[in-house]
Amino acid sequence: MIGVLFVCLGNICRSPMAEGVFRQTLREHGLQDRFQVDSAGIGNWHLGKPAHKGTLKVLKEHNIPHYGRSRQINPMDFENFQYILAMDNHNLVDLKQFNISPHKVKLFLDAAHKRGLTPLQEVPDPYYDGRFNDVFDLVKLGCEALLEEIRQEQHL
Ligand code: 4NP
Repeated sequence: MIGVLFVCLGNICRSPMAEGVFRQTLREHGLQDRFQVDSAGIGNWHLGKPAHKGTLKVLKEHNIPHYGRSRQINPMDFENFQYILAMDNHNLVDLKQFNISPHKVKLFLDAAHKRGLTPLQEVPDPYYDGRFNDVFDLVKLGCEALLEEIRQEQHL
């Protein structure tokens, strides 16, 4: 199993969206059985809560199921997942501060940015501006590029 963990600040907007979209991307490629996918937050303010209604709405509009509840990142995640993907630079800095397996920690948009698919390197937080649809488009493109990169690295 290849473990992929998406991480944002609250684990209610961006990382649950990426988790749902990446699972969908895997299903489209028939690779869902090869991966373990999850998401987590840096903070614990929303512990046990479902994803933000904006995230749930945009996922539903694209027929993507999501049942996760917010949880906080913990040191075991660095053992259990090979790819730990930060939504923005703040998340990246916070993840590096755990100082466990720092080579596993990358920006989620790295793969898409490297391939010239987006000028952005960070996923803007829709919690503050409500732009869930724009973030969805970015997350979709990010997930496709990420899967392509992982397939190359893992010879899938
Ligand atoms: P997320 O968005 O990191 O994409 O889940 C946020 C959710 C909650 C808060 C900040 C960002 N908050 O401050 O509670």
